[in-house]
Amino acid sequence: MNSGSQSTERIVTVFGGTGFLGRRIVRRLLEKGLTVRAASRHPERVAALFSSDARAPEAVRADILDPPSVALAVAGSQAVVNAVSLYVERGNFTFERVHVKAAADLAAASRNSKVGQFVHVSGIGSDPGSESSYIRARGRGEHAVMSTFPSVIIRPSVMTGPDDVFLTVLVRLIRLLPIYPLFGDGEMRLQPVYVGDVAEAISRLIDGNDPGGSSIFELGGPHVYTYQELLREIASQLNIRIRVMPVPFAVWNVLARVAEFLPGAPLTRNQIDLMRHDNVAAADLPGLNELEVQPRAIREVIRMIEHPHRLAA
Ligand SMILES: NC(=O)c1ccc[n+]([C@@H]2O[C@H](COP(=O)([O-])OP(=O)(O)OC[C@H]3O[C@@H](n4cnc5c(N)ncnc54)[C@H](OP(=O)(O)O)[C@@H]3O)[C@@H](O)[C@H]2O)c1
Repeated sequence: MNSGSQSTERIVTVFGGTGFLGRRIVRRLLEKGLTVRAASRHPERVAALFSSDARAPEAVRADILDPPSVALAVAGSQAVVNAVSLYVERGNFTFERVHVKAAADLAAASRNSKVGQFVHVSGIGSDPGSESSYIRARGRGEHAVMSTFPSVIIRPSVMTGPDDVFLTVLVRLIRLLPIYPLFGDGEMRLQPVYVGDVAEAISRLIDGNDPGGSSIFELGGPHVYTYQELLREIASQLNIRIRVMPVPFAVWNVLARVAEFLPGAPLTRNQIDLMRHDNVAAADLPGLNELEVQPRAIREVIRMIEHPHRLAA
């Protein structure tokens, strides 16, 4: 609770509250009875995104690169969540600027505003020493945030859901392609997690499960797959026989360089960088289990993708 406020209303500001993950965090917090501000550069999207919900968040225009708008957005908040993404660098929007500097500035604005809790969304594999500028910025960002504000760092594995850019694409391509290309030899391990489970975990951390001080959670789904196993699992759910072909990372990098210029950047170099290493939750860090969130199986998420009207996302 903001010490300057006499109100007992619990306000949570979610930066990136219109995004793939952010809007689910907003929804879960509203369901728990909290007052929520969804902060983004395009607040006009909020009305449509929450049109069928019982409650809608307050839509706030804020750019994480613009300190006055950030200060206004966090003022009076009990908790702040940073769920802002940047997957492709463009002009001023560099990984260093958004994931390190702006993340630390948001943490500082929250501290100055006497916010009680700061949750920063990063990703499994974040590493300040990485050769990849994306992975390095995610790692440096975590350090910059934690040294500014004792924060909860959330590192999800790759997230899935009906409107994702991962599983949805795999489902579509497996139906389409006679031979499916692998990242390298396809032996990299990953632990896809349902986006709603990550949102639920974050909402629990804010609503009663605050571990206090700085802590890191790694959130993975119920099963660890190699990339090749995951493709075969999806194909078996779709009743399709799949043939796979290894494709060297150097070729993927060239494809991603081109794809980054296409609308919606369907493939990016940071995705390729992430695919070079295992993306599995660490056994020695807390995760969904500690927050008593039962992770959803991939076959359920595939069903949601195939029949979006039947199941809530
Ligand atoms: N998706 C995954 O599988 C995955 C896996 C691991 C970690 N993560 C991490 O999870 C977080 C959320 O990712 P996501 O996939 O949900 O992202 P997303 O769908 O791209 O949403 C990003 C959100 O941030 C807002 N935003 C972007 N730039 C902003 C700025 N300069 N100022 C204020 N708001 C800004 C966007 O709205 P506007 O454009 O309107 O501002 C949007 O609401 C990111 O940190 C991401 O790296 C994602």
